[in-house]
Amino acid sequence: MKNEALFHELIRKKPVILAPLEDVSDAVFRRLCRKYGATITVTEFVNVEGLLRGCRNAKRKIALAPDDALTAIQIYGSDPTRLAEAARFAESAEPFYLDINCGCWVPKIAGRGAGAGWLRDPLAMVAMAKMVVQNVSVPVTVKTRIGYGPESDMPIVDLARRLEDAGIQALTIHCRTAQMGHSGMADWTWAQRAKEVVKIPVIVNGDVKTADDAKRAMDLTGCEGVMVGRRAIEHPWIFREARALLDHGEARPLPTHFERIDLCREHLIANVEARGEPYGVRVTRRHLAGYLRGLPGAAILRQRLLVEDGLSTCLTILAEADARLRPSLHPCS
Ligand SMILES: Cc1cc2nc3c(=O)[nH]c(=O)nc-3n(C[C@H](O)[C@H](O)[C@H](O)COP(=O)(O)O)c2cc1C
Repeated sequence: MKNEALFHELIRKKPVILAPLEDVSDAVFRRLCRKYGATITVTEFVNVEGLLRGCRNAKRKIALAPDDALTAIQIYGSDPTRLAEAARFAESAEPFYLDINCGCWVPKIAGRGAGAGWLRDPLAMVAMAKMVVQNVSVPVTVKTRIGYGPESDMPIVDLARRLEDAGIQALTIHCRTAQMGHSGMADWTWAQRAKEVVKIPVIVNGDVKTADDAKRAMDLTGCEGVMVGRRAIEHPWIFREARALLDHGEARPLPTHFERIDLCREHLIANVEARGEPYGVRVTRRHLAGYLRGLPGAAILRQRLLVEDGLSTCLTILAEADARLRPSLHPCS
């Protein structure tokens, strides 16, 4: 199987993976996260019908950059045959591996049988995964939740065993039910229970917000890796912080004020290069508040930046902040 050896080599290194994030985990953000230590990155989910129709947006989402060698493509759909066909199509983009989304809780997706909708019929999910596995020559993984909710006993443990038999190479578990959406706490003990019954790697996901969380989640569950979603949007340094702790037992200092300002610049410039103005500036906004957190005067800085559409004005505002902070070199949180 293509990429299998490298896949397992990376799994042995306790990967910290950037989660698939709709409208966020694009080529620019994936590159930034890899720079800060993300072992593997995943595209946002791509609709199989869009892919098979040749829809421009779907094709854009699976287009991988030359430095995307360690990027997986995630697909979603409700029809096993269409998923298998789309998987073959996505394979032509040369992803590191293919991931099947069986965890999206949003009603317009789960309600139509895609995403977490598969959790309503775990055996159908397994048959679908098997069909996808048989149709491609790259590793196939599944990302799902612990159950649909509110089952008295979560299906994830039995499901993990069956998905392993179906031939998937790894399983990512977002430790909430579909009905929880993003609310409540992720219960990592379900990943632990699933891990106990399978040999394939299990990746634990949900509420990993710090390097400490990454280590605790792995220690508690015995999982091979962790996946980070929301925290990466505001603090992509989490990858290097987790790496330092996992690899060397070190607590890495938080980014300095200047690193924070530099990342705002870098992300704005890269997004404008990729998408032009003003769109490139606008799509960067959701990251800026997090990047600037803890900076003296951050609230005013944010207010000024979040209404600006022009790159050069944003860069001027950041240069002024940089100059104002020059004498202080203290890390902030
Ligand atoms: C803005 C946003 C977009 C998301 N898009 C996807 C997606 O495309 N595919 C997917 O499997 N999960 C998606 N998720 C779920 C995340 O991958 C992840 O499972 C979830 O946020 C829990 O992890 P966290 O606590 O680290 O954020 C998305 C979550 C957010 C907040």
